[in-house]
Amino acid sequence: MPARIIDGKAIAADIRDQIQTAVSERREHGQSTPGLAVVLVGDNAASSVYVRMKRRDCEQVGFVSQDYDLPATTTQAELMALIDELNANPATHGILVQLPLPESIDAQAVIERIDPAKDVDGFHPQNVGRLVLRLPGLRSCTPHGVMTLLQHTDVDPVGAHAVVVGQSNIVGRPMALELLNARCTVTVCHSRTRDLRDQVAQADILVAAVGWTGFIPGEWIKPGATVIDVGINRQPDGRLLGDVEPATAMARAAWMTPVPGGVGPLTRATLLENTLAATRQLDG
Ligand code: GUN
Repeated sequence: MPARIIDGKAIAADIRDQIQTAVSERREHGQSTPGLAVVLVGDNAASSVYVRMKRRDCEQVGFVSQDYDLPATTTQAELMALIDELNANPATHGILVQLPLPESIDAQAVIERIDPAKDVDGFHPQNVGRLVLRLPGLRSCTPHGVMTLLQHTDVDPVGAHAVVVGQSNIVGRPMALELLNARCTVTVCHSRTRDLRDQVAQADILVAAVGWTGFIPGEWIKPGATVIDVGINRQPDGRLLGDVEPATAMARAAWMTPVPGGVGPLTRATLLENTLAATRQLDG
């Protein structure tokens, strides 16, 4: 039997509906409307697409989308000054600076300048530290979204062997922590792991986040596994493909996310959830 599809698009649509209702209720009760500042620096084509979708999501649920499109020549000082202004603005509840930033800008310094209470990406060291310590805080959108996807399967993470392939700050590392916090046994692999095939074959839950088309052949997948493909790799012909070779993986796995329409929609829905949570923390 082929894998059951984890329909990220449908799950994200439900989350947006719930957030839209919550925003309407806040209005009716005279409470603030969530405001998300989305900052784009330069003209990276993929970033422009992601930012456009994030802004459209905001408008759909009734948030105020505060748009900042800055030229690639923006200086570190100018970007830091904008962050300071947004930190101080009571109408801004979330701040998202789309990555990657131009090479002339120190991205880590920008991340650390954002008020952790408005860090809806969950990238600030304070929020990452809170995730490590299992304390409440703003959690990185893609890994948090993956946990939401897992909740829509019949898979019990407790004691399951989860294998994360990828070690980035945005996905791999916080993903491993999320799975550990859900009481999985976690192995973290990456492009230099020597016995990758053997590791992948152990996975009850596999999260692939290397950003490399078809990096994981389908025949490596353990029969009955849950496969979460975070990769969104654009092909020369414009198609989007994941990190897992899909046809064989679908034949072996019990559950699998599609690309596109799996993890991507949840990353964006989780950004909305984080912005609503930040608004409630800041304004009640
Ligand atoms: N670039 C790729 N993914 C992300 C993300 O989740 N947040 C931001 N800010 N930039 C990204």
